[in-house]
Amino acid sequence: MKVKFTDLYKLIPEKKKVLSKLNYLIKNSKFVGGDEVKNFEKNFAKYTGSKYCVTLGNGTDALEIAVKSLNLKKGSEIIVPVNTWISTAEAVKNNGYKLVFCDIDLRDYSLSIPDLKRKINSNTSAVIAVHLYGNPSDMYNIKKITQKKNLKLIEDCAQAHGSRIKKKHVGTFGDVGTFSFFPGKNLGAFGDGGAIITNSKKISNFVLRMRNHGALNKYDHNFSGRNSRLDTLNAAVLNHKLTNYKKSLSSRNKLAKIYFSKLKTLSGIQTYKLKKNYEYCYHQFVIRTSSRDKLKNFLTKNKIDTMIHYPYMLNELNFFPNDKKLKNSKNLGKKILSLPISEEHTKDEILYVANKISLFFKKQILNK
Ligand SMILES: Cc1ncc(COP(=O)(O)O)c(C=O)c1O
Repeated sequence: MKVKFTDLYKLIPEKKKVLSKLNYLIKNSKFVGGDEVKNFEKNFAKYTGSKYCVTLGNGTDALEIAVKSLNLKKGSEIIVPVNTWISTAEAVKNNGYKLVFCDIDLRDYSLSIPDLKRKINSNTSAVIAVHLYGNPSDMYNIKKITQKKNLKLIEDCAQAHGSRIKKKHVGTFGDVGTFSFFPGKNLGAFGDGGAIITNSKKISNFVLRMRNHGALNKYDHNFSGRNSRLDTLNAAVLNHKLTNYKKSLSSRNKLAKIYFSKLKTLSGIQTYKLKKNYEYCYHQFVIRTSSRDKLKNFLTKNKIDTMIHYPYMLNELNFFPNDKKLKNSKNLGKKILSLPISEEHTKDEILYVANKISLFFKKQILNK
């Protein structure tokens, strides 16, 4: 059996309906803005339970504009977890703030609360929590800490569409939540896309202007902004996918259960520690093992695709601060492995992957 990591084409639900919608929009020259974009913003705000959603060109812009929207003190520090996609850190650097890395919690790869407390000082102005792999960070505690210290809070939800804590969607705990609709994301467009959600009218209005050269209406520029809009065709695709998203989440959760039941008894590997009242969207299913490279090769030989998110921690990139005191994340890039998981994988495929992993560890024990 061959198990692909993802098959983006397969992930498009009701293809005929989508193509006919795109055909209609193209025939009517509807390419930028319009009802599709407005509807998706309304629908996604409703889905996440936030007052406002403003769509953008991609998740990187969403982060960069979110940081800008908060008007933080010049030269102040922003804390970011060290295991994340580079965009989270770029948003800090590209806005001219000082980047401070925080260690991660090895139980679910979220931000480490003890290290967060250590990293906060009188020059800290904000924290960006990342719900990596779709695992919600401990937002009730993080919020308590940031509120007490009067810090702004951004949530990077690029990988966490549908992840919730006590039914509350991630991205709604802090000042602003950011999303990516990159094709490989759980809710993926046919190209780049992004959004912010917020309950603040002020932030929402700022982002609306920022994405459109500082203007809300034609030629009413208030400041120098940029062009970062979700296009109409992609808004239509996302509107359609959002309608079907509940089903996708349920399939991903069912497949994750198979991994947990098969892998939890293996002594050489660690899976996630799931928390009560947390809902997970399983953007990635990541395991950790000191035999990572050997396991990856073994799975490749058995025609199973895997990936690594990410092979380096951001403090290992030489243009970012090189904080050597981050204990949990040290060498993490050499131990983690992302297994195939999506709503289009079958139970048999996931069982096949899990059984091959069990076989690998059994062989390892016999060879010792
Ligand atoms: C955690 C995280 N933040 C931000 C981004 C950036 O999103 P985009 O690729 O849409 O710019 C990504 C995308 O990979 C991501 O995974």
